[in-house]
Amino acid sequence: MAKRTLAGLDVSGKTVLVRVDFNIPIEQGVEAIASYDQRLRATLPTIRNLQGRNCRIVLCSHLGRPGGKFVESLRLAHVGARLEILLGQPVTCLPDCKGPEVEAAVAAARPGDVLLLENLRFHAGEEANEPGFAQALAKLADCFVMDAFAVAHRTHATTVGVPGLLPSSTGLLVEREVQALRVTLDVKEENKPLAALMGGAKVADKILILENLLDRLDHLVIGGGMAVTFLHAMGKPTGASA
Ligand code: 3PG
Repeated sequence: MAKRTLAGLDVSGKTVLVRVDFNIPIEQGVEAIASYDQRLRATLPTIRNLQGRNCRIVLCSHLGRPGGKFVESLRLAHVGARLEILLGQPVTCLPDCKGPEVEAAVAAARPGDVLLLENLRFHAGEEANEPGFAQALAKLADCFVMDAFAVAHRTHATTVGVPGLLPSSTGLLVEREVQALRVTLDVKEENKPLAALMGGAKVADKILILENLLDRLDHLVIGGGMAVTFLHAMGKPTGASA
C-alpha cells in the first residue's frame, strides 16, 4: 500500500494539525525536561518543513495518563517552553485542545506560527476514539500530519479518528522510523547477521514485536526496564523491580 508522505500532501499556506508524541517522563521534574527532550528534537524536521511551506502549525500530544481529567502536573506548558528553546521562536501553549478559545487562537495564527494544544488525554474522548472529540480537533485545521511514532499503535482519536476526517500524511519522524524498521521487516542477506537491541518499559506492549522479530534476527539484546521481566522469568533476583 502506498504511504501518504509529507512531501505529497498539499499543505502550502494551510493550517496543519500535527500529532506529536511529547510524552516525556515529566515525573522526573520540570528541570529534567532538557535531559529528556529527544522526542521534541525528533519532531523539529517536520515543524521546519511545514514552516518552509507557510503553514500554521498546531501541535497536539498526550503527556502521561491523566485518565480523562485535567491534571495540573500533566499540563504541556513546560514541554512547550522547552520546544521554544529548541525551535528558537515562540510556541503558544493553549489552555485546552478544543473549544471556542482554542479555535480563536488558531484562527489568529500567522504562517510559521507554532501552537501547542493542551494534553489530549485530559479528555476521555482521546483514548476512547470518540467521533465527537475527533471532529472537534479536525475542525481546527485543513490537514493532519501523523508524527507520533511512539503512540501510533494505539487506537485513539488522534491516531485513528482525525486522519479519517482530514487530508493526512505521515510526518518526517514517522518516515524515518518506518525506513529504519524496513531493515528488519525486509531482511536482505547482505544485512546479515542482524542484531536488535530493545529496552525501556512497557514490556507487555513489546512482546508481540519481539515474537515478530525473533525469526528474523541472529541476536537479540534486551536491556533497561525490559530486562527485569526476563531476569525474573529466569528466576534471577530482581529486588524491588520485579
Ligand atoms: C509511550 O511513551 O510509550 C507512548 O507515548 C505511549 O504512551 P501510553 O503507553 O501511555 O499510551
